[in-house]
Amino acid sequence: MKIIEVENYQEMSKQAAQYIIEKIKKQPKLKLGLATGGTPVGLYQKLIEDHRENGTDYYDVTTFNLDEYIGLQGTDPNSYRYFMNDQLFDHINIQKENTFIPSGVKEDSEQEAKDYEATIKSYGGIDLQILGIGQNGHIGFNEPGTSFESATHIVQLATSTREANARYFARMEDVPTKAITMGIGTIMKSKEILLLISGDSKTEAFNRLVNGEIDPHFPASILRKHPGVTVIADQAARLGV
Ligand code: GLP
Repeated sequence: MKIIEVENYQEMSKQAAQYIIEKIKKQPKLKLGLATGGTPVGLYQKLIEDHRENGTDYYDVTTFNLDEYIGLQGTDPNSYRYFMNDQLFDHINIQKENTFIPSGVKEDSEQEAKDYEATIKSYGGIDLQILGIGQNGHIGFNEPGTSFESATHIVQLATSTREANARYFARMEDVPTKAITMGIGTIMKSKEILLLISGDSKTEAFNRLVNGEIDPHFPASILRKHPGVTVIADQAARLGV
């Protein structure tokens, strides 16, 4: 695991954007895995700025998002589909049909999970997966205890995760209780992974990631076994200040 130490959120976002832009230049048909949450927002802003200023081309790029809430339509402002359109896709020249996010509203969500996994496979897998990390070490929505071999599946969200994400919803009761997420096995199959960690609420997670045991109770710990992981962590995440 390669760790890039940066000073702050802006610097993390800038370096992550640079990393992705270089990749796209080398590989215009990149299969890019994307994440939601507060952490990648700055990265997406940098990608948009760069697209405006330097014209980085996303026409042949395909994206796969990690997860989606069960029960939210893509038009719901709290859905991850809405988030991705709003924060990135509407502002770059990506073809919408090349942006994949698991659906949270299919009648048979188990089938949707299987189909999503098959879609990723049919594209030859993910070249570069962007990840954030939950305070409890979750990646995507893979909560502690999830099998390291898991494929895309339906999960019951931990109360701590619902609380952490409640800031985006009007009321705690509105936060969905279930989600569909790429599995840890799906994520581990990505050729390369870029994990972003920012802020003092993530200091313990950063420490456990770097120094803790590899243990399903801290899902992100398995990333230490992946040969192509880069972590960009800001000072607050590393040192708690
Ligand atoms: C959410 C997402 C994750 C994300 C994590 C951290 O639950 N499903 O993909 O990495 O929480 O979110 P944030 O970046 O807002 O701290």
